[in-house]
Amino acid sequence: MRIAMIGTGYVGLVSGACFSEFGVDVVCVDKDAAKIEGLHANRMPIYEPGLDALVADNVKGGRLSFTTDLKSAVSGADAVFIAVGTPSRRGDGHADLSYVYDAAREIAQSLTGYTVVVTKSTVPVGTGREVERIIRETRPDADFDVVSNPEFLREGSAINDFMRPDRVVIGAETDRARAVMKQLYRVLYLIETPIVFTSLETSELIKYAANTFLAAKITFINEIADLCEAVGADVHDVARGIGLDGRIGKKFLHPGPGYGGSCFPKDTLALVRTARDKGAPLRIIETVVAINDERKRKMADKVVAACAGSVEGKSIAVLGLTFKPNTDDMRDSPSLEIIPALQKAGASIRAFDPEGMEEARHMFSGVTFCENAYETLQSADAMVVLTEWNEFRALDFERVKSLLRAPILVDLRNIYNPADMVAAGFQYVSIGRPTPKA
Ligand code: UDX
Repeated sequence: MRIAMIGTGYVGLVSGACFSEFGVDVVCVDKDAAKIEGLHANRMPIYEPGLDALVADNVKGGRLSFTTDLKSAVSGADAVFIAVGTPSRRGDGHADLSYVYDAAREIAQSLTGYTVVVTKSTVPVGTGREVERIIRETRPDADFDVVSNPEFLREGSAINDFMRPDRVVIGAETDRARAVMKQLYRVLYLIETPIVFTSLETSELIKYAANTFLAAKITFINEIADLCEAVGADVHDVARGIGLDGRIGKKFLHPGPGYGGSCFPKDTLALVRTARDKGAPLRIIETVVAINDERKRKMADKVVAACAGSVEGKSIAVLGLTFKPNTDDMRDSPSLEIIPALQKAGASIRAFDPEGMEEARHMFSGVTFCENAYETLQSADAMVVLTEWNEFRALDFERVKSLLRAPILVDLRNIYNPADMVAAGFQYVSIGRPTPKA
């Protein structure tokens, strides 16, 4: 089997490397020559644990290669995956599909023999059908099927998510296309992964329904956390108490400053827009979007309240900037809302993130970036945890206290134990948990 993966962003690169690990011959294509040159030197354009080793192994094994030449990669391939970006369109929140359609046109010109064209990027319902139309229009003689095969990879654990998924969803409407897809995923049949075969539209909708459901689940627990604070209950016990019910499930019930990242904010918005356009509004998700936006801003108020009602002229140490740990991704990170709100309230910000600072430097103004957690805390009036990186879990708290001007700790990821923090002499604020009296 040979495939071409168009787009070496997050999804394309991880999927391409993982397919090659499955024994498929993979050629990854990108227009960005610098990116391809970097990949030839095993320089990853993104940070994902284990990816560089996986790429190096498979390049060495001759199953994985990189090129800017789409034509040579597509001709002769059994399947061509479209894994280009689908950012939110400025202004209306719809997904911008111009990269997908441009790729479809280019692919069409290079097809030889029967080829399955797979949309891997997250695309609104109806996109697969449009890709089919574009290819047919560009190359009326081409022998192809369009298939939808959405990814469910989480940044930071993407390789494991690809290799051991809960399920694979494939929208394929002909026996020929299904046979090619089965062959590509044959390794997963060995570990009895459920494979859901369905139509193009259904497959496209599954992806959005999954992500928006998870976003709603997080938003639900975030609101329950606020209620816990109001009534003196503990949100972690509530999450465990409800999550043990198999119908609810334990995962994605961790409260925090609001979901961010490259998928949930974009996908919730896109689905809300599609649903409105189709006359079947998803009011529950519209509300989720509004609550999550507001929540990020409200987190700055929480910090202000912890600092005796004012951060005017104060220095705030922020630990963690990325939307979650084990990634350098800053997209829609809560830090992008919280930090400017604190600056507006008169605070000066010192910040550190283990992987995200290069990216973050372009996204904030007036922030002092530090080398490590301890340097960040130097003479700060409060410490705020925004991302739950492991290295923040095990700080030397005596040292933390000696560095801070005031022992105020706002933990927006609930990574510390309230009783321990109070015993260590901190004025500790977290999300949805009562703090014991000192
Ligand atoms: C998500 C989906 O999980 C994945 O299936 C899809 O393909 C892409 O989008 P990702 O964005 O990498 O993956 O991160 P994820 O781990 O799902 O977290 C998303 C956001 O939700 C983060 O901001 C995270 O901090 C937040 N989150 C997650 C919570 O606040 N609480 C939780 O319990 C889980």
